[in-house]
Amino acid sequence: MDLTLFPLVYGLLFLRATGSVSGAFSFTNSGELGYHAQAETMRFVWTANRNDLVRENATLKYGTDGNLLLSDADGRAVWSTNTSKKGVVGIELRNNGNLVLYDKKNKTVWQSFDHATDSLLVGQSLNIGGVKKLVSRVSDKDGSEGPYSLAMEAGGFALYASFPKPLPYWTLSFYEGIKDIFAITHTCKKPVSSITFQSNTEAENGYSQMMEMRLANFTAPPELRAPELCKLTSDQTTSALYSFNTPRFNTTLSFLRLDSDGDLRMYTYSPGIEFNTWDITYQKFGCWRGVPVCGLPRKCGGFGVCEKGQCVACPEVDGFKGWSTNCSPPSLPNCKDASSNSSVDFYKVVGAEHFSSKYVNAERNGKTTLEECRRRCLNDCTCAAFFYWEESSACLNTQTVGTLTQLGNSTHLAFIKTVKKV
Ligand SMILES: *[C@@H]1O[C@H](CO)[C@@H](O)[C@H](O)[C@H]1NC(C)=O
Ligand SMILES: *[C@@H]1O[C@H](CO)[C@@H](O)[C@H](O)[C@H]1NC(C)=O
Ligand SMILES: *[C@@H]1O[C@H](CO)[C@@H](O)[C@H](O)[C@H]1NC(C)=O
Ligand SMILES: *[C@@H]1O[C@H](CO)[C@@H](O)[C@H](O)[C@H]1NC(C)=O
Ligand SMILES: *[C@@H]1O[C@H](CO)[C@@H](O)[C@H](O)[C@H]1NC(C)=O
Ligand SMILES: *[C@@H]1O[C@H](CO)[C@@H](O)[C@H](O)[C@H]1NC(C)=O
Ligand SMILES: *[C@@H]1O[C@H](CO)[C@@H](O)[C@H](O)[C@H]1NC(C)=O
Repeated sequence: MDLTLFPLVYGLLFLRATGSVSGAFSFTNSGELGYHAQAETMRFVWTANRNDLVRENATLKYGTDGNLLLSDADGRAVWSTNTSKKGVVGIELRNNGNLVLYDKKNKTVWQSFDHATDSLLVGQSLNIGGVKKLVSRVSDKDGSEGPYSLAMEAGGFALYASFPKPLPYWTLSFYEGIKDIFAITHTCKKPVSSITFQSNTEAENGYSQMMEMRLANFTAPPELRAPELCKLTSDQTTSALYSFNTPRFNTTLSFLRLDSDGDLRMYTYSPGIEFNTWDITYQKFGCWRGVPVCGLPRKCGGFGVCEKGQCVACPEVDGFKGWSTNCSPPSLPNCKDASSNSSVDFYKVVGAEHFSSKYVNAERNGKTTLEECRRRCLNDCTCAAFFYWEESSACLNTQTVGTLTQLGNSTHLAFIKTVKKV
């Protein structure tokens, strides 16, 4: 059967990606009535098969056994809700964007809200027992999994970049923690058990777009405890709120997305204003109360120094050069090559910081000397650079460099691995 589920705002449809060969199926928040949806105002906010796209003439079938099954043109089963013989009697795309398969008691058997991709719709959660992270798409045109993720953690949530080892580039508890969480309400022994995106919730001075963090109803083992949040323990209630923004207009039609550039944005649909448009009502990096845009891991592409939002220099062995998109770190010998150890060296970039420097817990490895930090990077063929903070003797080894932030603090040093000159 053809599926044509078009409630007021959301649609479930095949999505044509780059070229004519691929497709996924997704919701679009079109803000328009059903079939009148215009392609340019549609945004896909969920996909079923993001890493295994189908070809033209693929089929999506809701079977009499209660299973929703996506098959490719050649009949290969690509994706399914795995709900055959589970008592499913119907399927509904609700007007909050949740696709639900329900039983005869109207109990949810499967819902797309439990399978977030890179976006959270209003009311959608990440859960300790289910999907715990959002993973960015590769690009606007390619919905498959990219390098960035938003992960739910014991103390809230954090952003990670995987190049290829995951390193944080923002964490709730460290960066804004105490100032921004205006209602911390938990005992220290409970981890965050779910985070839910909420929008248009009434706040004192307008509407609020926020992340609601529910605390687990159990005592957490030590490794799951969230010390930063504990400092503000007040009573034993069960949730904490992290506010993104308090717009003064109706933001019911919003979604939160971890974008392909690693930024976390909130999009709100504003119908009725001249043209139908999507406002960005929140942006984590480079915005009014966000983190400086230089903190985006690839703000300056694969390599470069960022200062006050601009890519200002390409740090080379013989000093700073002008930055262009061609700026790239030195190429290194292949790790499979047995001689790779002996042929490398480092050059120093003074006052430069890695995107992850302030979020990794340097204390964990104890105090490290510069020599030891250097030795670790030298002995690890996958290490591309090391970072050293003189005042705290903290050491960070990384597999990619990405965007360096210029600090104007000469005690923070970067050492970039390069091939030794003979
Ligand atoms: C898809 O199906 C239509 C109708 O059966 C057929 O004309 C078309 O060639 C098919 N496309 C592909 C790529 O197989
Ligand atoms: C269905 O089950 C398969 C195999 O266990 C699993 O890989 C897949 O993720 C499941 N699909 C959903 C939508 O949960
Ligand atoms: C089933 O539950 C949903 C969500 O609570 C509700 O919107 C819907 O109207 C219910 N359907 C029936 C047939 O009761
Ligand atoms: C928390 O757990 C207690 C004891 O198991 C239970 O009585 C209570 O209903 C639970 N509360 C919530 C909100 O789940
Ligand atoms: C906000 O917009 C939604 C959807 O357009 C509407 O259902 C809701 O009533 C509005 N809320 C307020 C407070 O105006
Ligand atoms: C590089 O050197 C380290 C220690 O000096 C050694 O453990 C490692 O095996 C060497 N790697 C290669 C590829 O020679
Ligand atoms: C560099 O940073 C350290 C620690 O944050 C601080 O103590 C020191 O004064 C800074 N130095 C300069 C030159 O800004």
